[in-house]
Amino acid sequence: MNILGIETSCDETAAAVLGEGRTVLSSIVLSQDEIHAPYGGIVPELASRQHISSIALVVEESLQRARIKIKDIDAYAVTQGPGLIGSLLVGLSFAKGLAYYFQKPLIPVDHLQAHIESAFLDNKKITFPVLALIVSGGHTSIVFMKKDLNYQLISRTRDDAAGEALDKIAKVLDLGYPGGPIIDKLAANGDDRRFAFALPQMTDKSLDFSFSGLKTSALKKIKEHKISKKHPQFVDFVASFQRAIIRALLSNLGQALTEFKPSSLILCGGVARNKKLRQTFEELARQHHLPVFIPSPQYCTDNAAMVAALGLKKLSCGKRQTSVLALNAYPRFPSIKSS
Ligand code: KG4
Ligand code: ZN
Repeated sequence: MNILGIETSCDETAAAVLGEGRTVLSSIVLSQDEIHAPYGGIVPELASRQHISSIALVVEESLQRARIKIKDIDAYAVTQGPGLIGSLLVGLSFAKGLAYYFQKPLIPVDHLQAHIESAFLDNKKITFPVLALIVSGGHTSIVFMKKDLNYQLISRTRDDAAGEALDKIAKVLDLGYPGGPIIDKLAANGDDRRFAFALPQMTDKSLDFSFSGLKTSALKKIKEHKISKKHPQFVDFVASFQRAIIRALLSNLGQALTEFKPSSLILCGGVARNKKLRQTFEELARQHHLPVFIPSPQYCTDNAAMVAALGLKKLSCGKRQTSVLALNAYPRFPSIKSS
């Protein structure tokens, strides 16, 4: 069984082919970072236009690298949502065209569920129940999985996502885009306790995240201490802000652990590439004597291998879209549900 996955939910045009035993035969990711960098963030209109120019080439490249002809693809998987609607529609329409023309099944996939699936690409044997922390540029959520393909959203962000907060502060400090990986590198040489940030607190005891307060507090400190790249404590400031984000993430996860008592932990999404977050997450798991699964860095950020993997799993469980042409994209929550 060969499956072709397509992912265009945000600013990466991606296609991947998985073969026998879920082996990744190819995974092509074309980044649009250079296009959005001058604006310090993603410009949705430019993202969808770029997807249109790239999608056919990226799919073709994924087939060539996998040494597979399109007629040998048995099924298609595509991200249906959430994401930027214009971007999603490019990948979805392209996949619909292929599936319709070649008369093959098309499996629609939720982007957040696909991020969780990326942990299963390297580790097929993960014991349930699982608690997954998804941290990306667009999402910060905790999902509880009683069993495979069963998703319960127990926490989400009420405002900014963690990656978005990192990117925004990096933009104010003129560090470049995307800011997350730059902050990751800089923070390694800083004193992360030099600047104190209060942990965000929810008044209603919910497990939801909020990062806008941390962002405002960082902006105030930047103004007050005149923080810039030339400031002697610039690296300490960056490290302290990163620590605040990590503490906020893991504090909620700690509470969820007590409440949901999982057997395994997953960390995924673009921010899961962050070295300090990976390390701190593993420490937390060790304290709770839990196995932890974190995808290799290339599968943390948006990619189509995770989409194809989830599509294949859904297909093998008999979950198939009856009418390919009726499929439509959805831009936002509520997207995670038992499927
Ligand atoms: O999962 P992803 O590729 O796209 C979304 O679904 O949003 O995540 C992109 C996010 C960006 O905010 C980027 O700054 C962040 O992941 N990111 C990182 C690192 N690498 C990517 N954040 C912190 N440290 C990193 N090493
Ligand atoms: Zn993503």
